[in-house]
Amino acid sequence: MLGVSGSVAAYKAIELCRLLMSEGARVLPVMTEAARRFVGEATFSALASEPVPAGLWTSVDPSPHTRLAREADMVVVAPATARLLGALANGICDDLLTAVLLATRAPVMVCPAMHTEMWENVAVMENAARLRSRGIVVLGPTSGPLAGGDEGLGRLVEPTAVLDAVRGILAGLHGAASDGTVARDGTVARDGTGSDGPATRDLAGVRVLISAGGTREPIDPVRYISNRSSGKQGYALAREATVRGADVVLVTAAEGMEPPVGSEVVAVETSREMERELMARCQDADVVVMAAAVADFRPARIQAQKISKADGVPDMALEATPDILSELVEVRRPGQVIVGFAAETHDVVPRARMKMAAKRVDLMVANDVSVPGAGFGHDTNAVEIIAADGASTSVPMTTKAAVARAVFDSVVDCLAKSSKESAARGKDPAKSSKEEF
Ligand SMILES: Cc1cc2nc3c(=O)[nH]c(=O)nc-3n(C[C@H](O)[C@H](O)[C@H](O)COP(=O)(O)O)c2cc1C
Repeated sequence: MLGVSGSVAAYKAIELCRLLMSEGARVLPVMTEAARRFVGEATFSALASEPVPAGLWTSVDPSPHTRLAREADMVVVAPATARLLGALANGICDDLLTAVLLATRAPVMVCPAMHTEMWENVAVMENAARLRSRGIVVLGPTSGPLAGGDEGLGRLVEPTAVLDAVRGILAGLHGAASDGTVARDGTVARDGTGSDGPATRDLAGVRVLISAGGTREPIDPVRYISNRSSGKQGYALAREATVRGADVVLVTAAEGMEPPVGSEVVAVETSREMERELMARCQDADVVVMAAAVADFRPARIQAQKISKADGVPDMALEATPDILSELVEVRRPGQVIVGFAAETHDVVPRARMKMAAKRVDLMVANDVSVPGAGFGHDTNAVEIIAADGASTSVPMTTKAAVARAVFDSVVDCLAKSSKESAARGKDPAKSSKEEF
């Protein structure tokens, strides 16, 4: 069900409706009275799977709110006004949309849109926090241009980002890949089976630190050494963790990527900056995923001025960059799960296993970047996820979103194992905390 409330951003709900329909979803549109002042009901009625119902009292349906509440696999409100958030947070249901929101047992996601001053009002912030604490996904808002020529936090997240989140939540519900297609009946499947599985908000409250992108190591003010990493896999990991309920910090050297909604994004350029930002944050993380392609070498000296072509080919000495993964493992706190990535072009799995043994991480994701369509720059990937006990999970060529899902499935297993181990240690006083430190 797509709920639309009375924000200027209501016009974007038209595009969202179209995107959902083109993915094969059955879209039931519901508009508030204020939303009808911004965009025409006829547009939604024409685009969606059924016409916009008249209202709580005026619908031909004798009980429109309970029918819609039961039929929906998921309820998305985009845009969600300050009033809508307030009504939902306080259990007020004085129109069709709020009545459905109260009556439904389906997952609910609201996408706020309003001016910065409204979003930052304590009442609105408290309402949003209350909704989050009840398991409602609050997606956005994001920063950017607002109505009336203003700029700031309060902008509705882009319809494509809403679609990604819908896919992720439905995939969790139906035990399928977060990039699975939405079937006519609203279910999602990785392989078209539509098989049921456990709902996945399995990272709720887990703090996840992710690195992404290839670092750029300056030679002089205009040149640098880098690698082909786009950051797409790291961003897909951030999106997946957010949808599963984690608090995500993404330290990224990637350029030109749309920030993943819901993550705190820290932009860096060099390996030195990447090291500083990750080391400053790792103690606060329950899970660290080192997906960035940190340069292995950098110029030993950065020239203050542009090296002139006229001076001939420079004699450039290189030095090793910090081994951030080893440093993270060195200061790992008890119970923390650390995931490494090994991008290789030959002997991929043996080399990844060697790296795993040397670095002592919990999971190593072996990535054969020589396979066409896998690794750097692509939207697709194929990996082998190796666990500390040697077991491995093969993820054949699929989207980076699906790889992210498989990685976090393994992370969840590691977290469960480590909490079981610490519970067992807690029961046995003979085993001192020395073992942990
Ligand atoms: C031009 C205009 C733009 C508005 N934009 C927003 C907005 O972006 N977000 C918001 O929360 N309220 C906005 N409002 C106020 C809401 O429309 C108003 O609170 C209304 O009662 C919301 O009703 P609803 O939540 O039932 O849709 C706007 C009002 C006007 C007149």
